[in-house]
Amino acid sequence: MEKEKPIGVFDSGIGGLTVVKRISSNLPKEDIVYFGDTARVPYGSKSNSTVIEYSIQDAKFLINKNVKAIVVACNTSSSIALNNLRKSFNVPVIGMIEPGSQAALKASKNGRIGVIGTRATVNNKAYSNQIKKFNSDIQVFEKACPLFVPLAEEGWIKHKATYDIAEEYLKELRDKEIDTLVLGCTHYPILAEVIQEVIGEKVNLIDSGIASAEAVQVELDRYDLNTNKNSLGNQEYFVSDIPVKFKEVAELFLGKEVSEVSKIDLELLTL
Ligand code: DGL
Repeated sequence: MEKEKPIGVFDSGIGGLTVVKRISSNLPKEDIVYFGDTARVPYGSKSNSTVIEYSIQDAKFLINKNVKAIVVACNTSSSIALNNLRKSFNVPVIGMIEPGSQAALKASKNGRIGVIGTRATVNNKAYSNQIKKFNSDIQVFEKACPLFVPLAEEGWIKHKATYDIAEEYLKELRDKEIDTLVLGCTHYPILAEVIQEVIGEKVNLIDSGIASAEAVQVELDRYDLNTNKNSLGNQEYFVSDIPVKFKEVAELFLGKEVSEVSKIDLELLTL
């Protein structure tokens, strides 16, 4: 039965676990299969053609796991590969950019929105274009913050170096009088406290993972794909490499214990 299939979620690495956390808290009965391309992370510094190629391989892996929908829990892939993914696979594909943009528009009162993300997300102006499509009067200011990814993976949640780097990255956004800031990278919610302190308490932070988890619910309703099960869903985790400190960092991102992780061969992705 279609409804009883799992939801597939992929990311370039472990950042997408912040999205899994939100999906499983909104939809606790749904089974989830996660794939993190930890051998080839980061995607945020790669060319568009490579990001598209890798994203299609990641999604194909999930399709082979018989998923009923795919969540692209990576802002970089969502920025660059979403249309290719929607054309290539016959299941609902939910990205991060549309839901994150809508949530930002809802939150902003002064029409001045900041977006932080990887270089690829920012260079592709994914959020600016999407937000302006919804409302062309909005001013969007984007800033790439590549060092936030290793800081989050290092677990330096409130480290002095994180404050210093956040100060350096965010000072130009502070001058733009934004009232809303989109965390346009799935790693950034881990650093939300520091980002909030540095950008100022009055700025609304938008976690695109929360917005995207809500969009998953909408899509399941729309296609009548909600599970009928009454028990808690299972979660299966696959990665293309198990890096040093993986379990510790994954648990920080997921907010709970990661019981079992399977490593798959990259060759399996490229078949
Ligand atoms: N997960 C990626 C994103 O949300 C960040 C890490 C990467 O560069 O691959 O954009």
